[in-house]
Amino acid sequence: MELKQEVLALFMNHHDEVISGQEIANRLSFSRTAIWKVIKQLREEGYPIESIGNKGYRLCQVRDPLSRDLIIKALHSDYQKIQLEIYPQVDSTNTRAKVRAIEGAQHGHVILADEQTRGHGRFGRPFYSPKGEGLYMSLILRPQMHLSQSVYVTMQVAVLICRVLERLTHQAPSIKWVNDIYLGDKKVCGILTEAVTDFETGQVQYMILGIGLNVWNEEFPDELKQIATALTPLKTTRNEICAALLNEVLPISSSFSFDEEILVEYKRRSNVLGKTVEFVKNRAPIEGVAEDIDETGGLIVRLQNGEVETLHSGEVSI
Ligand code: BTN
Repeated sequence: MELKQEVLALFMNHHDEVISGQEIANRLSFSRTAIWKVIKQLREEGYPIESIGNKGYRLCQVRDPLSRDLIIKALHSDYQKIQLEIYPQVDSTNTRAKVRAIEGAQHGHVILADEQTRGHGRFGRPFYSPKGEGLYMSLILRPQMHLSQSVYVTMQVAVLICRVLERLTHQAPSIKWVNDIYLGDKKVCGILTEAVTDFETGQVQYMILGIGLNVWNEEFPDELKQIATALTPLKTTRNEICAALLNEVLPISSSFSFDEEILVEYKRRSNVLGKTVEFVKNRAPIEGVAEDIDETGGLIVRLQNGEVETLHSGEVSI
């Protein structure tokens, strides 16, 4: 067994107990420096290992620690070599991913965090990201496409996430145009796609695909209670859910193109089609019936006066 696994196993078997660095070193026959390096690595992966004065270390009780090793193990063989960074806490995984993309990170580089202090969604709205409760993940994608096509990525990812959640929950998740995933009548997952393009050609240089999934949350703040839900109860771990999502999303190759089947499934899973929706135009609320979603991801709404409006961005309420 790799030293890291041995140290982890020792901590797990002495959950909530303090073990000195010397004792770990003696038990595993390694130097204290080697043990210290491994502890540092485990912390970077999100394991909450506390230093207790000069007495030693303690792994605090966590239900479901994120583990790089366990995620990689559950990935298809093609993705064993992906770059996957796990942090105990970040401001936003999308922000961290942008920094990595600017530094030249490759297509498929993943940033995952146990907690976000400034997790956000579309329109700069905060995304509730409490410690240990959800999956907060961003992928760097470098698809060869024009900005106008980037909506396909979001639509495809929404469909792929629904497939994974359906397998896990045996419920039928739905998509609220454009990119919110619902279980029943509450949001369980949000997707934030941010693209950076070449100013002159409009070609995408990179995209940051942020996924925020509520997993274990049993309680939400008052303002979210009526509109948010989580996957729990569930017999799996965040590591397995993360790997399942990555196994679906990583095949999105750099030569991405429009897929008719995805559009059909996106429409089948839509929870707005056929419903009366409200949206804001010129600062005034307008109502109409959502009739269709076109190949550009536009939502086609028939207004009460019979006219048709195609929405390309923004939000509708149902
Ligand atoms: C939305 O609800 O409009 C989208 C929410 C997206 C949240 C995810 S969590 C991981 C990544 N980091 C962020 O700050 N946002 C996305």
